[in-house]
Amino acid sequence: MTASDPRLQVRLGRRTLRNPVLTASGTCGYGPEYDHLLDYGQLGGFTTKSVTRHERPGNEPQRVAEVPGGLLNAIGLANVGLERFLAEKVPFIETMPTEVLVNVAGYTIEDYVVVCEAVDRVECLAGIELNVSCPNVSDGLMFGTDPGLLKEVVSAVRAVVTRGTLLVKLSPNVTDIASLARAAVEGGADGLSLINTYVGLSIDVERRRPVLANVTGGLSGPAILPLALYNVHRVYREVCADRGIPILGMGGIQNARDAVAFLLAGASAVAIGTALFVDPTAPVKIAEGIAAYLDQHGFASVSELRGQLQL
Ligand SMILES: Cc1cc2nc3c(=O)[nH]c(=O)nc-3n(C[C@H](O)[C@H](O)[C@H](O)COP(=O)(O)O)c2cc1C
Repeated sequence: MTASDPRLQVRLGRRTLRNPVLTASGTCGYGPEYDHLLDYGQLGGFTTKSVTRHERPGNEPQRVAEVPGGLLNAIGLANVGLERFLAEKVPFIETMPTEVLVNVAGYTIEDYVVVCEAVDRVECLAGIELNVSCPNVSDGLMFGTDPGLLKEVVSAVRAVVTRGTLLVKLSPNVTDIASLARAAVEGGADGLSLINTYVGLSIDVERRRPVLANVTGGLSGPAILPLALYNVHRVYREVCADRGIPILGMGGIQNARDAVAFLLAGASAVAIGTALFVDPTAPVKIAEGIAAYLDQHGFASVSELRGQLQL
């Protein structure tokens, strides 16, 4: 059994992936960082850390804290910026034997358009995951919380992304995620990534101060798994199933059983983030575990699992 079993192949937007397991943005850098730990040839895909138009130093430390059931992070979108990404990171990405999605973040519509247009011109990049949902940067939240603005930014990006797949990654820190999913699809998204982190707070009671310098951070890991499954299932039923829009599901996935739960809830593929910090080979084990589940339960392909939750 391998992660390249043809029964594992899935379609995600405009691309076919060898299996439905990707890495999640911000948890594995731009590729070189995990090269000695993870066989990229066994992944369905790899998602880069968020790239912005200009280089960003990110937040002051402490930027990450372990909390019950997961991690709280406030990295603040630290990244090398578009120019250095193209010059310094793309040459390695060209050698990666997997589909690479570039996660793009921005502060104005123009920022998003400039970065996405440049990324779409690079042949070795399979597509874009638009981060409209980072809860750590105060002025970045608005795109992912207002349906009108979200549709506007997605439409503007869609106009310049003519080659690659365009996924829009939604924030769960909203009242009605389905209305935002609908706005992203109406703006021209090929698929949706669900979910980004939940806003949280950790307090050091001895110092009577927040643990993170940024005060709040984004919660990830097993603590958010049932919340993520709920969001995926809701968006699948209310927005994606009828329109044939794929969902890249994520949030707390640690093993193949968690991944299968996302597929049953309506995801076409899954991404693994926080679990990489425990076991960098987790995505490969999860792909193999999904193949074992197909055998045990008599499914001919992974696509047959999508949305099969019986209510
Ligand atoms: C340390 C860390 C950094 C992250 N950075 C980004 C980022 O730059 N862009 C983004 O869209 N999501 C980022 N995320 C969110 C993850 O991609 C993912 O949506 C979230 O962590 C839920 O998945 P998980 O529970 O498997 O980690 C980050 C998560 C963590 C833990």
